[in-house]
This record gives sequence, structure tokens and C-alpha cells, in this order.
Amino acid sequence: MTKPKLRIGMVGYGFMGRTHSNAFLTAPRFFDLPRQPELTAICARDRDRAEAFAQNWGYGSVETDWKDLVARDDIDLIDIAAPNNMHMEIAIAAAEAGKMVMCEKPLGRTAAESQKMVDAVEKAGVANMVWYNYRRIPAVTLAKQMIDNGDLGRIFHYRAKFLQDWTISEDLPQGGEGLWRLDKSVAGSGVTGDLLAHCIDTAMWLNGGIDSVTAMTETFVKEREHALTGKVEPVGIDDACAFMGRFANGSLATFESTRYARGHKALYTLEINGEHGSLFWDLHDLHRLEYFDHRDDGRTRGWRSVHVTDGDHPYMDKWWVPGLSIGYDESFTHQAADFIMGLDGMPAAPTFADALKTDRVTDAVLRSADSGRWEAAS
Ligand SMILES: NC(=O)c1ccc[n+]([C@@H]2O[C@H](COP(=O)([O-])OP(=O)(O)OC[C@H]3O[C@@H](n4cnc5c(N)ncnc54)[C@H](O)[C@@H]3O)[C@@H](O)[C@H]2O)c1
Repeated sequence: MTKPKLRIGMVGYGFMGRTHSNAFLTAPRFFDLPRQPELTAICARDRDRAEAFAQNWGYGSVETDWKDLVARDDIDLIDIAAPNNMHMEIAIAAAEAGKMVMCEKPLGRTAAESQKMVDAVEKAGVANMVWYNYRRIPAVTLAKQMIDNGDLGRIFHYRAKFLQDWTISEDLPQGGEGLWRLDKSVAGSGVTGDLLAHCIDTAMWLNGGIDSVTAMTETFVKEREHALTGKVEPVGIDDACAFMGRFANGSLATFESTRYARGHKALYTLEINGEHGSLFWDLHDLHRLEYFDHRDDGRTRGWRSVHVTDGDHPYMDKWWVPGLSIGYDESFTHQAADFIMGLDGMPAAPTFADALKTDRVTDAVLRSADSGRWEAAS
């Protein structure tokens, strides 16, 4: 029987445009989905490059203006894989046109932008989701199952860090392709909205809401040439951020992120400590979940390194055979599959409304770094 199509219009063919395209191509081959995703159109401003991308990934057509994409009546879902300053305008227009919307993180550059996007998708009643993909790495999903099952008991601590080292050179310009992350007007913020947003999304999914935060940020390189204007301009983003917080459940949070940790490329780690045990996960070893259970026999008690690749682990029955690992890209495939499966039942998370909560925390972190005070985060 032919499945109904899910006709996708993708905005952006950069890093995320590729992960999303790959996810929609792969998901129906490994998951039994109620609708068949179709790569209907890719939108980017450079027609030649967009056409080359369309050919490589199998898109049926090309648009160079996202407004033309949104206006098409042969598109069901607009997927936003463009820089952060584009998210709000495209998402609101897509919702008003009655399209489903998937959007990259952070949802908006500020919580105020994100609120408008939430209002638009809820008013239009369209399916929506934000690509916080780390939730769907099987080891992280397993952590969620264990925490929800009460395996750790009362939670005392949650700590996460996300470290990189790619902006240390003062010669690196800000703005333009690939470097828009250093331009505050495009990115909204630096590591707080880019990297800590991931850590906060996972943290609140695993351990509930964050009530209040106190933060410090630093911009180590104060001026950079702007790639678009050619002028040396002040740098407005936070290069590094560390914050502490209190979760609603009474546990304590410590988070750190920087792009100045020489030697680290994408070191996202999280640890959670409860009365019965602890869990630790590391993106560089993403198929393992480290688990300590204090209730084990004392003579053999110790950290277990669970290789999350067996058939009874989350998502893993859909892949190869037990013991063989999957990687980063499959977290997007899982997200695409869950979104499509959620269309005819319980909508998959994180929705725009969920992602707004993350943006409220990142806003509070940046406010606290300015004010030097604790700030309410919810
Ligand atoms: N979920 C994750 O782990 C993750 C990882 C990286 C980036 N992101 C997010 O994904 C988004 C895109 O980041 P990226 O790394 O793919 O960036 P990128 O610079 O690699 O790609 C951005 C793309 O958007 C296109 N674009 C820019 N302005 C446009 C416009 N007006 N119309 C159409 N296309 C336009 C660019 O041509 C480019 O193809 C950002 O919001 C970023 O925060 C998420």
C-alpha cells in the first residue's frame, strides 16, 4: 500500500541541511513510518549551489527565496536549517501558511522571538518540533528511561559542559558563511545559545525545569573584522560561559561552555548524581553510558560502562546487530522518525513550546552575567 507523502521544503544546505536531508532519506528505510518523507524542495540563495545540493541529495526542485518555498502548495513541512536570525520570520510565515514546521535550535535568538513562534504554531494548529537531537542518542535516551524509572532515586547534582576550541585565533573574522555564529546580530548569543542550549535542553528533559541561575560570561577577543563589511567591529557574543542553577526538584546545576578549550572539538559531557547512583555520558564516546549503582554488592561495586548497542536499548533494534554502534547522524534520523510517527498520535518532543523554556533559561543566564545577580529562569 502506498503511504501518504510528507513533502519537505528545506531551508539551508549547510551543516544542518545535510544532517536533516540524510535523516529524512534514512528514517523510512529503518523505521516503519506512517508517511513517506519526500525531499520536495531545497531553498538557498545561491541557485547553482542549491542545484548541486539538490542533485546530490535527491531534491526535486530548488527555490532561492524562502518566501516562494513557503507559498508553494506542494509542501507539507518547512524545515528550517538556516542561521538563527532567519528562524522566527520563516517559522511564523510557514505556520500562517498552514505548514508543519521543524526548526533548528535555538528556536529564537531570544525567548521573546521564541514566544512569537510558539504563538504562531499554536494558533495555526500545525505540528512543530525543534532539532535538539542529543535527546535521541540511544545512551542519552537510556539515561532518561533510567531516571524516570527512579533508578537514581532523589537527584542531587546535574553537571554538563560543552567545550570547543575553534575561535581562539584573533584573525578569524566574524559574520558570513560558517562564521555567522560570531556575529551577535545573527546568532543572538555565543556559546550560551549555541552550545549550552543543547546542554539545557537535555538537562531539563532528564531532570525537570531550572528555576534560577547565576552566570559569568567572557568575550576573549573583543574586536574582529566582519566578513561582510570588511570593517573591524566589536564582538557581541559570549565566547565562554559558566553558570550555576537550581532545578525545581531541589538539585543543583553546574554548566560550562567555551570555544577556547584548546584540544576539545565538541566535548559535550553530562553527569547526574542521585541518592542510589550516578550516570555519566560523553559525546566523544556516545554509545556508552557510565552507570554507578550504590545498591550493588559492595565487593564488586563500581562504575559499569554500558555499551548501548543491544536490541533492548532505545532505538537499537532498528539498526544492525547487537554490539555494533551507530553515531551522531542517527540522532537526527531518530528525530525525523519520531516526528513523523508523532503526526498521527502523540506529538513528539521537543515542541516549540518546550524549546521556549530552554530560551528562557539562556536569556536568564545572559541577564545574570550582565547583572551579577541570580535571575529567575522559568
Ligand atoms: N542540532 C545541532 O546539533 C546543530 C548543529 C549545528 C547547527 N545547528 C543550528 O542549525 C542552524 C544552521 O546552522 P548550520 O551549522 O547548518 O549553518 P551553516 O552556516 O552551515 O548553514 C546555514 C545555511 O543557511 C543558508 N541561509 C542563510 N541565509 C539564508 C536565507 N536567507 N535563505 C535561505 N538560506 C539561507 C546558508 O546558505 C547555509 O546553507 C543554526 O540555527 C544552528 O544553531 C544545530
